[in-house]
Amino acid sequence: MKSRNTIIGLFSLFVVANAYAQRKPHLDSKKTIEERITLLMNEMTVEEKVGQMNQYNWSWDVTGPAPKGGVSKLKLDHLRQGWVGSLLSVRGAKEVRAVQKIAVEETRLGIPLIIGFDVIHGYKTLSPIPLAEAASWDLEAIRKSTAIAAAEASAAGINWAFGPNVDISRDPRWGRIMEAAGEDPYLGSKIATARVKGFQGDNLAENNTIAACAKHFAAYGFVESGREYNTVDISNATLYNVVLPPFKAAKDAGVRTMMNAFNLLNGIPATSNSFLQRDILKGKWDFDGFVVSDWASIKETVTHGFAKDGSEAVQKSVMAGSDMDMESYLYVAELVKLVNDKKVKIELVDDAVRRILRVKYELGLFDDPYKYCDEAREKTTIGSQFNNEGVLDMAKKSIVLLKNENQLLPLKKSGQKIALIGALANDKTSPLGSWRIASNDNTAVSVLEGMQKYKGNQLTYDKGTDVTVGKTTFVQELEFNTTDKSGFEAAKNAAQNADVVVMVLGEHGFQSGEGRSRTNIDLPGNQQELLEEIFKVNKNIVLVLNNGRPLTIPWASENIPTIVEAWQLGTQSGNAIAEVLYGDYNPSGKLPISFPRNVGQIPIYYNHFGTGRPVNSDTNVFWSHYSDVENTPLYVFGHGLSYTSFGYSNLKINKAVFEKDEPVKVSVTVTNTGKYEGKEVVQLYIRDLNGSLVRPVKELKGFELVNLKIGETKIINFTLTNAELGFFDNNGNYLVESGMFKVFVGTNSNDVLESEFELK
Ligand code: BGC
Repeated sequence: MKSRNTIIGLFSLFVVANAYAQRKPHLDSKKTIEERITLLMNEMTVEEKVGQMNQYNWSWDVTGPAPKGGVSKLKLDHLRQGWVGSLLSVRGAKEVRAVQKIAVEETRLGIPLIIGFDVIHGYKTLSPIPLAEAASWDLEAIRKSTAIAAAEASAAGINWAFGPNVDISRDPRWGRIMEAAGEDPYLGSKIATARVKGFQGDNLAENNTIAACAKHFAAYGFVESGREYNTVDISNATLYNVVLPPFKAAKDAGVRTMMNAFNLLNGIPATSNSFLQRDILKGKWDFDGFVVSDWASIKETVTHGFAKDGSEAVQKSVMAGSDMDMESYLYVAELVKLVNDKKVKIELVDDAVRRILRVKYELGLFDDPYKYCDEAREKTTIGSQFNNEGVLDMAKKSIVLLKNENQLLPLKKSGQKIALIGALANDKTSPLGSWRIASNDNTAVSVLEGMQKYKGNQLTYDKGTDVTVGKTTFVQELEFNTTDKSGFEAAKNAAQNADVVVMVLGEHGFQSGEGRSRTNIDLPGNQQELLEEIFKVNKNIVLVLNNGRPLTIPWASENIPTIVEAWQLGTQSGNAIAEVLYGDYNPSGKLPISFPRNVGQIPIYYNHFGTGRPVNSDTNVFWSHYSDVENTPLYVFGHGLSYTSFGYSNLKINKAVFEKDEPVKVSVTVTNTGKYEGKEVVQLYIRDLNGSLVRPVKELKGFELVNLKIGETKIINFTLTNAELGFFDNNGNYLVESGMFKVFVGTNSNDVLESEFELK
C-alpha cells in the first residue's frame, strides 16, 4: 500500500513537474543545458541579466552570525526583483533555503542563486592550512581533504567554494601565503588539480560536490614587498611560466569559476585586465566557466586610478571579462544604462550571463534549488567521525621534520619527564589558522591534549609566555605581541627538571592570512627570548613551530637540536603533532617553500635564475652575494626529514641524446637505510642549460611519494616530455629548444644526484 502511494506520489510529482516544465521550458531537464540557457535568456530583461551578474555579501559578518538588524533593505529588494544572481557568506541549510526560496518563488523568473563561501581549508572540521597541506606533497590526501570540505560546505547550503587559492608566492611577508601551495608552479599545478577534483568530484550535480573557484587571477602572490593589495609588476615570461600554470591546471581539471585579483598587473588592474581574462583565460584557454571579481575590486579600479568613475569601472571590467561583481554594487547600478547607451554591447552581457547560468545548471540548481538545503544531512555530515579522521590523516602528512639531531625524536613512550612549554601548546584556536569562518574558537585539539593521551611519561605544562595580548579577529587587529615575561621562571624550573622539553612556539592563528603582511617574521613577541632562556637550562629541546608562513629562525636552527614544522594543522592539530612526536607517525612532509635566513633575503626561492657572477672565483667582492649573510635559504625548498634515512643511487637516463618528441626516461634507486619504515618524496628537477630565454637553475618537473620498509629498495621512474622540457617566452609561445639539459634527483632541491642529456 505504502509503495503504491509512493508510486502515485511520484507520478503526480512528475505530472506537476512536466506541466511546470511546459510552462517554463528552461526547466525541462530533457533539453541540453545550452538549450535551456537559451530558452531562459530569451525570457530575460536586461535588468534580470545584469542581476545574474550581481553578487552580494549576505550581511553575515565574515566571522560571525547574522547581525540582529538582518540584511539591508536594498539587498532584500534587489533579491526580490531578481537583481541578484549570487550571495556569499550565507550559510546553514535552513538559512540558505530561506534566501533560495525568495529567489525561486518571489522573482519573476525564479532563477536560483549560486551560494559562495570561502571554503579555504575545510568548513567546520578544519584541515591544515593550504600551505601545510602542500607540504604533504600527497595529492590524493589533498583531494580527499578538499572533498571533506566540499561535503561539509554543501551540507550547509553552500554550492560554490572560493577556492582553491592557487597563487604562487615567493614572499613570506605576505600573509596570504598560508592560503596557497607555496613557491613552485609545478607542485602548485598538481595541487590545484587535486583541489579542483576534491571540490567538484566527478559529477558537479551530486549534492556533496560544489563548484570550485581558482583565485586570484592573476599574480596576487607577487605583490611588491609582500605588502597586501600592493602593485604587481612582473615580466610576461614570469607570468606565463610561474604564475599561470596552476590556473591552467585548474582550468584543465574543469574548474567552473575563477576569481580575479585586487592587484594591478603591469599597470592594469587584474579585474579590468582584458589580456588576462579575454585573451588568455577565455581566449587561448577557452574557459567556459565564469569569472567573479574579488570583493569590491571593480570599484577599486577607480581608486587605482584606472577608471574615472563607477560607470567606467563597470564598462572596463565587463569588457575585460569580469562576469560577476562581488560587493561593488556597481554592475547593478550602472550596467543597464551602459547597455542602453550602447557603451557595453549586450553580447558581452549575454556571454557573462550564459556562463553564470551554465554553472547553475551544471550544479543542478534548476532541477532542485534546495538540493543543498537538507538539515538532516547537515547534522550528520558536519563534524562527522569520518571527516575528523580525514583531517587528522591530512594533518599528520603535512608535518615537516626540519631537524632532528641526537635523535631526540621520536620521544620514548615511557619513563621520561617531559616539560611542555609555550602558549600555543595549550591553544585550541590558533591551530585553526586564518580563513576558518564557519568554525568556532576553541575547537582544535591542542598539543597538550594530544600529548596527554600518551600516559607513559610524566608531562608538565607551562605557558612561559603568551604570543599576543588582546583579541584579534579575522577582520580586525586588536592584538599585540606580548612583552610579559612573568611566566619565564616557572617554565625554566620545569625545563630544568625534564629529560626533554617540547616547546610550541610561533604565530597566533590570525597573524597570517588576508591583511596580515609582516616585515618581521621572527618568532613573535618574546618567544625567542623564552626559547633562549630555556636553552640555558636544558638543551634537549624539541621546537614545534605553529605558523602560517615561513619564519626566520636562524638561532633556533643553529642551536636547537630538533625542529618540527607543524604549521596550523586544523581541528585535529594536537593529535597529529603528538602522533608524530611519539613516532606513531613517521613524518614525511617536505617544504613547499624556502625558509629565509632573514627578511633581507626575500624574495628567496629555489627556481631563481643564475647570475653572471654566481660564485666567488677570486677573493674579491665582485660577485652576486650579501656581505652579511649567505645566499642560500635556511631550509631549502623540498627539505624534510624522516625518522628513517634514505639512500639515493644509480641515477640513469635511458639515452644520451633525444629527439624533440621522444620521452626522456629517468630512473633512480632509493633505499630505506634507517631503522623505521617511512615515506619519501623523491624529487626530480631539471635545468635547461641554454635557451633563447635564460631558464632557472633548477625546476621541479616530477616527484613521487614512495613508502619504503626498513632495508627496502625501490627503483623510481620518471618520464620527461615536451610538457616538462619547454617554457613560455614573453609572448606566451611555448618553446621546446634544443640543447643540453641537466637532471637532478634527490631528497630536496639541494641534495641531489645529477646527470644530463641532449635534446636535438
Ligand atoms: C578575498 C577573497 C575572498 C573574498 C570573499 C576577499 O577579500 O580576497 O579571496 O574570496 O574576500 O570573502
